[in-house]
Amino acid sequence: MEFSNKIILITGAGSGIGRVTAFEFAKAGGTVIVSDINEKGGQETVQQIEAEGGKAIFIKANVAKYEEVESLIHTTISKFERIDIAVNNAGIGGSYARAADISPPDWDKVMAINASGVFYCMKLELQQMQKQQGGVIVNTASVAGLKGLPNSLPYVASKHAVVGMTKTAAMEYARKNIRINAICPAFTVTPLFDPEVMDDFSAGLSDKLKAAIPMRRFGTTLEIANAILWLCSDKSSFVTGLALPIDGGITA
Ligand SMILES: NC(=O)c1ccc[n+]([C@@H]2O[C@H](COP(=O)([O-])OP(=O)(O)OC[C@H]3O[C@@H](n4cnc5c(N)ncnc54)[C@H](O)[C@@H]3O)[C@@H](O)[C@H]2O)c1
Repeated sequence: MEFSNKIILITGAGSGIGRVTAFEFAKAGGTVIVSDINEKGGQETVQQIEAEGGKAIFIKANVAKYEEVESLIHTTISKFERIDIAVNNAGIGGSYARAADISPPDWDKVMAINASGVFYCMKLELQQMQKQQGGVIVNTASVAGLKGLPNSLPYVASKHAVVGMTKTAAMEYARKNIRINAICPAFTVTPLFDPEVMDDFSAGLSDKLKAAIPMRRFGTTLEIANAILWLCSDKSSFVTGLALPIDGGITA
């Protein structure tokens, strides 16, 4: 897959899935706008891309704040004139508790970043993509956007919202040369899902989780990035409104 001359915006690209996706787009010739709330992580992603001869810049933005997303999109357009591809990936896990024990601020925080953040980005990206008469968007949902997950109610609600927004927007813009899909990963090793931290929390927990996955292993960030690149490439030109599980068979 080839992304030369493509302008690619990725949120949450200072770590984990977003960072490795940025590396892969840059390796394939794309110019990557690395965005994150974490300036240090974002700058490290850019430095690593540049060290390999790739093209990237960092723009700091908190996706939960509409005015910061507006500024991210306006800065990107003023520098590069277009956004060919957007990966709305920034997200958090939220606290681990049953429904009755979740505080309203915990709910608000997860929904603000994971759901409103994707909406704000997508709304403004779509305005630009309509002007330039085309584009591709991938939203990072989760298998928690397809099924329930005890002790993670706000996360599950936010990721179901991402899947619903993806399907609806895909239908609205299908005739405007804009494709919109979601990825639904499970258990991918990143700082957000760290098996060592899980085992500190409860001995043997990561082995129990692996046992529930038909492939009996966790995913890698590269496996998720590969799926994102495919969804953003011309190889998936008839695919829109998909919520793609990347999960070792867990939703099967
Ligand atoms: N790791 C998994 O197992 C897994 C599974 C399914 C879905 N996901 C989703 O993948 C996405 C990336 O997660 P990851 O596992 O790479 O985690 P990560 O923690 O490594 O990366 C998430 C990035 O998002 C950034 N971020 C957090 N809040 C932000 C905000 N308000 N504004 C801008 N940036 C913000 C963080 O600074 C971080 O760099 C998330 O949406 C997550 O829900 C992860």
